[in-house]
Amino acid sequence: MEKLWAGALHQPLDQIAEEFNSSITVDCKLWEQDILGSIAHANMLGKQGIIPQDEAAALAEELKKIQKELKTGKLSIDWKSEDIHTFVEQTLTQRLGEVGKKLHTARSRNDQVALDLRLYLRQEIQTLQSDLKEMTEKFLEQAQKHKGTIMPGYTHLQRAQPITFGHHLMAYTMMFLRDIGRFQDAQERMNVSPIGSCALAGTTYPIDRQWEAESLGFSEIAHNSLDGVSDRDFCVELLSACSILMMHMSRFSEELILWSSWEFQFVTLADPYTTGSSIMPQKKNPDMAELIRGKTGRVYGDLIGTLTMLKGLPLAYNKDMQEDKEAVFDALQTVKLCVQILSAMVETLTVKADNMLKAAQTGFLNATDLADYLVKKGLPFRKAYQIVGAIVAYCLENNCTLESLSMETYQQFSPLFAKDVYTEIALATCVAKRCSQGGTSEASVEAQIAYVKQQLKIL
Ligand code: ARG
Repeated sequence: MEKLWAGALHQPLDQIAEEFNSSITVDCKLWEQDILGSIAHANMLGKQGIIPQDEAAALAEELKKIQKELKTGKLSIDWKSEDIHTFVEQTLTQRLGEVGKKLHTARSRNDQVALDLRLYLRQEIQTLQSDLKEMTEKFLEQAQKHKGTIMPGYTHLQRAQPITFGHHLMAYTMMFLRDIGRFQDAQERMNVSPIGSCALAGTTYPIDRQWEAESLGFSEIAHNSLDGVSDRDFCVELLSACSILMMHMSRFSEELILWSSWEFQFVTLADPYTTGSSIMPQKKNPDMAELIRGKTGRVYGDLIGTLTMLKGLPLAYNKDMQEDKEAVFDALQTVKLCVQILSAMVETLTVKADNMLKAAQTGFLNATDLADYLVKKGLPFRKAYQIVGAIVAYCLENNCTLESLSMETYQQFSPLFAKDVYTEIALATCVAKRCSQGGTSEASVEAQIAYVKQQLKIL
């Protein structure tokens, strides 16, 4: 295969070096963006009189044909080409001869690849965003259903205070809103056109960068050509948004794994998202949730790999940067799959409300409320805290709950206790009274749901 860069070299590339250098198996994903970018470039060259108008039109025409043929499978990618840019240009030249060779005027693969990748990722983010919104909606639906389902809330994985399952799910929707925002930011900052930076220093041809950028839907051009070809911040930003989203999904997956364990029995995952064991007939394993947790490490790897690849690079383009695509493509594919799977798992989740409630009934989750009761009767909080601590110790010794203590016993700890204590420390009361903004009461959770719904519309 003839090299586009064979210029001053005398010997052909060593065969292993050729394979090593080739990136087409990865960057083939960019074929359509490469063609669209090339069409815009041809049009700009024609408009500026850098090449004759009719030749520019012929280039654009043929590129459109190539696009169509690749789409329908009439033309297939030649894997012997070094990369997708080489393939498209060589195909064009085979068909148009000398005219085909004019496309690369005032262009370098350096600004071309930066352009293609931005175009591709800009679009990918779009689909990821809608998947992410859909998943958030699944969480919202379950939250709505379970806004009154009482469960233990934990800190340090120790039972802490009663909350509702709806409240718990809503915490994740807040994370997803931030994720959506991060992808949006990444997309906006990515929407800058590097084309026209050429190899590194700009060009002597009278190009119209603004026009070419606008015709490709960019909101701005890169204002420094060295930066235009060497900037991969947009990859890093996307990868970090992916990593944070994976971290959120991994935390929830860990909860699903815990909750579906025999020890918790809070939820049952639908059969299509679990596996059995080849030896233990009773097993139902949360493989999908485990894989989401596991694949989080892989996406972090894509981020760290890219940051590390970039950290020592002098300006401008260096071949190290060819490694960027494998990382972003892998991260995007992984994230997309995880979002789809998690979305389906949440939608089909069976919630064992009775078990959640039972769990919330032991472990003194209403101890704070008991202390607050004494505060309302006039005791300073620290004093109330001490008394309730002693009551809990007493219950632990006598194997009973706060709800089952007799009034006589209560009175031994403080004369402030009266009959109304029992309704005050009922779990339903504890939840209902936490009606502060963002709290666990049904009304608060309703407000959170309304907030997220409204944000989803805006974002
Ligand atoms: N395949 C290369 C990449 O993905 C394209 C740019 C090549 N540029 C060069 N000067 N060799 O980075």
